[in-house]
Amino acid sequence: MKDIEKKINDLVETIHMHNIHYYVYDNPTISDYEYDILVKQLESLEKQFPNLILKNSPTQRVGAKPLSNFKQVKHRIPMLSLSNAMDEDELKSFDKQMIKGLNNDNIEYIGEPKLDGLAVELIYENGFFVKGSTRGNGLIGEDITDNLKTIKNIPLKLNMNFEIPKILEVRGEVFINHKNFINLNKSRLAAGKSIFANPRNCAAGSLRQLDSAITAKRPLEIYCYGLGYIEQKNFKSQNEFLKILFNWGLPVNSEAQVGKGFKFLKKYFNHIQSNRDNLEYDIDGVVFKVNSFDSQKILGARSKSPRWAIAAKLKSVQSTTIIDDIIISVGRTGAITPVAKLKPVNVGGVTVSNATLHNQDEIDKKDIRIGDTVLIQRAGDVIPEVVKVIKEKRTLIQKRYIIPDECPSCQSKIQKLDDEAKARCINYSCYAQLEGRITHFVSKNCMDIDGLGNKIILLLIKNKLITNVSDLYKLKESQISTLDRMGTKSAMNIINAINGSKKTTMSRFLNALGIRNVGEHLSKTLETYFNGDIERLICSDYQQLIQINEIGEIVAQSIIDFFQDSDNIDIINSCFELGVNFIKPEIKSGLLLDKIFVLSGTLNSFTRNEVKNIIIDNGGKISTSVSTKTDFLLIGSNPGSKYIKAQKLNTKIIDENFFKEMIDE
Ligand code: IVH
Repeated sequence: MKDIEKKINDLVETIHMHNIHYYVYDNPTISDYEYDILVKQLESLEKQFPNLILKNSPTQRVGAKPLSNFKQVKHRIPMLSLSNAMDEDELKSFDKQMIKGLNNDNIEYIGEPKLDGLAVELIYENGFFVKGSTRGNGLIGEDITDNLKTIKNIPLKLNMNFEIPKILEVRGEVFINHKNFINLNKSRLAAGKSIFANPRNCAAGSLRQLDSAITAKRPLEIYCYGLGYIEQKNFKSQNEFLKILFNWGLPVNSEAQVGKGFKFLKKYFNHIQSNRDNLEYDIDGVVFKVNSFDSQKILGARSKSPRWAIAAKLKSVQSTTIIDDIIISVGRTGAITPVAKLKPVNVGGVTVSNATLHNQDEIDKKDIRIGDTVLIQRAGDVIPEVVKVIKEKRTLIQKRYIIPDECPSCQSKIQKLDDEAKARCINYSCYAQLEGRITHFVSKNCMDIDGLGNKIILLLIKNKLITNVSDLYKLKESQISTLDRMGTKSAMNIINAINGSKKTTMSRFLNALGIRNVGEHLSKTLETYFNGDIERLICSDYQQLIQINEIGEIVAQSIIDFFQDSDNIDIINSCFELGVNFIKPEIKSGLLLDKIFVLSGTLNSFTRNEVKNIIIDNGGKISTSVSTKTDFLLIGSNPGSKYIKAQKLNTKIIDENFFKEMIDE
């Protein structure tokens, strides 16, 4: 028996190593035929001695039975995303920030293609693959271990000829290459099955199968690019880390390159951009990271993305089509935007029938005319736009376009201020603006009034039932039910929803008012700062507002302008008279009342968001930089420059254990 056990062990070892040589090192040391013989030997032994099958045997890539659901997995270290640089200027300003942050004017970067697949985390314990998960919301993902095991270039056991950490969490992108994608679709078509729209959808769908036998049939691959948690091992740089991953047998993208300064950023970006079509897989950008891990630590992270990395977006997908017409859209602030109505066209898998023309200057600069054939581009989630007119296609039928003098909705004169590119309708009672304001007011993150769609809102406005947002609270069921195609039942539901929205929070209400430059996040900041008391906000002056963390000069001025308008104050008062009231912001205790915290370094027992919530729930405040006003600097491992500043200022510095004791009291 011992002999058989040893034989099985040896075969498992050997096959693991051949897999790494074949899939990762791209340098097989035996022929396919010899490899197949080894696998067959192992399979036959395992068949005879099923109790000797090793959990990580290369024959055990498909899970025993389908799951009924995916378990949740909390990432030990949050999986952040990346901020974007949309053009060269933004890339340049990234470089400038790095230069400033590190006080070094020739930073070493590493450039990597940004694969368009799905981010996953792989966990290895003592060299064995034990668990894998999706990114999920960055904090919690789904356990897709069984599915990941089916991916052939994921080693089930690392190459033990190198020193292996006790625990290694590594992040990477799962994708399908072009050739495999086309072949898969071909065979699906032949089998009468539906085909996948693009490789990314196919990869996503395949990873979310409850039955890993299905995943196993999909030609998924992975490239690893990031470090999560690790025990016992220190790397100097991303480049060194990638090299060691490769030694361990984890696939890394061989396109990565190291270089210095903005010159390198530009060169590598152009290199990838011009080679995009030669790559075997889809990419949607280039990722640049500060190479040194020490420097990364100094730079730290924002809540969603590290400061030391950026995704430079590649030029987006483009198509040509014809402009049938140009219309005007009036936003809730009165901004006038010309919009091209297009002959519907497929741009990178999405049907596009509108494109923004931004403003008159843009129309003139690009000489865009109705009837023109134009090149359209769609960049990620951004609204499609016209890149240029194909002048060669011009005939005699194209018509120039000038934004009219009158608002198409209320016919009042449109104003164009010299320092603003956009024209505006300045009639505050304009239907189109009012419709925009009401739509915003009732939306999910604002007053959350269900059932009030655009059509009903427009009818209410046209029938003069509402002239501002507070009129919503005066509506009667009978007034709604007499509107076109409205039954008593739906009218009832709307009234109930309106009444239900009265009990709200200051932050929702502020967001709903649509103060320029004040969105969901700043509304919450203001609510916390003024402790749910809107009167205090209304009475505050410019000086006081700019003291608040995150409120700059422009926002402070927008807030002042808004509350200086007596119409706005009337509307707010009217809402309160009609029953709108605020639930006090939830302060679970006054334990940390008005204490100002700054965080630095990587926290181990909490995520940053957890800590922030605990502080705010207990009446404390968070600030992003250390100053004389800071009460506590809470540090995790590897705190950065804030730590040094706090020491200089004699700020109280606490660690996670101390913090736990503070809140346990
Ligand atoms: S680094 C903290 N490197 O892009 C650093 N991400 O927008 C976060 N991605 O969720 C990621 N290729 O799915 C990194 N070479 C690469 C990447 C890459 C693709 C994806 C990944 C991530 C998203 C961030």
